[in-house]
Amino acid sequence: MQTPWEHRYANRLKNMGSSVIRELLKFTESPDIISFAGGLPAPDVFPVEEFAEACNKVLKEQGPSALQYGTTDGYLPLREMIARHSLRYGINITPDNVMITSGSQQALDLLGRIFINRGDRILVEAPTYLGALQAWNAYGAEYVPVPSDKNGMITDALEEALRYGPKFIYVLPNFQNPTGVTIPLERRMQLIELADRYGVPIVEDDPYGQLRYEGEHLPSVVVLDDHYRGNSHTTYHGNVIYLSTFSKILAPGLRLAWVVAPPEVIRKMVMAKQGADLHTATFNQYVAYEVGKGGFLDRHILKIRRVYRERRDVMLGALDSYFPAGTDWTHPEGGLFLWGTIQEHLNSTDVLKLAIERKVAFVPGESFFPLGGGKNTMRLNFSNASPENIREGIFRLGKLLQELGESDKPKMAGSTLPAVVA
Ligand SMILES: Cc1ncc(COP(=O)(O)O)c(C=O)c1O
Repeated sequence: MQTPWEHRYANRLKNMGSSVIRELLKFTESPDIISFAGGLPAPDVFPVEEFAEACNKVLKEQGPSALQYGTTDGYLPLREMIARHSLRYGINITPDNVMITSGSQQALDLLGRIFINRGDRILVEAPTYLGALQAWNAYGAEYVPVPSDKNGMITDALEEALRYGPKFIYVLPNFQNPTGVTIPLERRMQLIELADRYGVPIVEDDPYGQLRYEGEHLPSVVVLDDHYRGNSHTTYHGNVIYLSTFSKILAPGLRLAWVVAPPEVIRKMVMAKQGADLHTATFNQYVAYEVGKGGFLDRHILKIRRVYRERRDVMLGALDSYFPAGTDWTHPEGGLFLWGTIQEHLNSTDVLKLAIERKVAFVPGESFFPLGGGKNTMRLNFSNASPENIREGIFRLGKLLQELGESDKPKMAGSTLPAVVA
């Protein structure tokens, strides 16, 4: 039924429609479901005590300024701390290269505001982070997908895609959301060289790079780009805009993230942010600084890695034990997700409907492809369920896939929806 509001909404809302998958995922929030669907960090690793202490200290010692409006680019000591912390990962920058955003999600939106005209093409990995597509759909972006394999974006296919004249390349080199895969060094170099040759900037989204459970840290694209240009100065002026966040290394409820970019891009993003929210919550920035200064972040990251490594291993072990023939999955070296491919003839959105009946959930892979595809794929999150629940959930999913494989129906049209969905 038409409501009196219908004709008032802006055209851009047409690109923000609700999807079957989003409707289905609402059911995964019920507490009796073992959900591998969200991208949530484990609440047991939130440093609650440290936050309690820091809040008290900030209020006692800096109360009035912590509760006041702040600058749009962010609290300087926090930006300085980020510049110091980044250096540990080889990112050599000054606070002029850094701005604070209300989550990396806001940074993606601000990039849309400053770069994307309706119809502009963005080169993305297929599959890619759904939140970026949601942010940029509002600005009328179109997508040039580049296929990926177990080593991430297939850079050999990049040159052809670059001929479409994209505004920028969006890439998640470490433990990608949704696939969990990592782009190796040679492909990173190829990416930088091609982007430079075609004069196309790179947006590197890296929420998970610090959460590595095995293997050697690989230099970020921003670091490689800096070296490629032979820059000896410390203020970065290269071709990459780098995003990272406190969501996965401290707590997502803070809504605190940062952008590293050439100062002129930072200035434009700051202008755009003024119109969005003036600045990120001052109090949260003071508290994050208080918690993070003095080396706590490094210690805390070690703890998170321990907890998530175990969960990843439990999930990989359970997949080995319970998933039937004809299925396959990635082996992420870090991050929060792995990517499953199920039997060719199955459609994972249909499988999700049945899985919800058995109280287990995942995200169908299809949602992460900007132009469709991936019907028989799924994203599985391993950070937010206990090891016992991971084993049980994968057991249930494996049994379901086994049964569906045996029944060998070409399609599951007419499969029973949970009553509420239907
Ligand atoms: C690839 C990627 N980018 C950005 C975000 C948004 O993070 P934030 O909580 O900082 O907004 C996420 C969150 O899961 C993500 O996976």
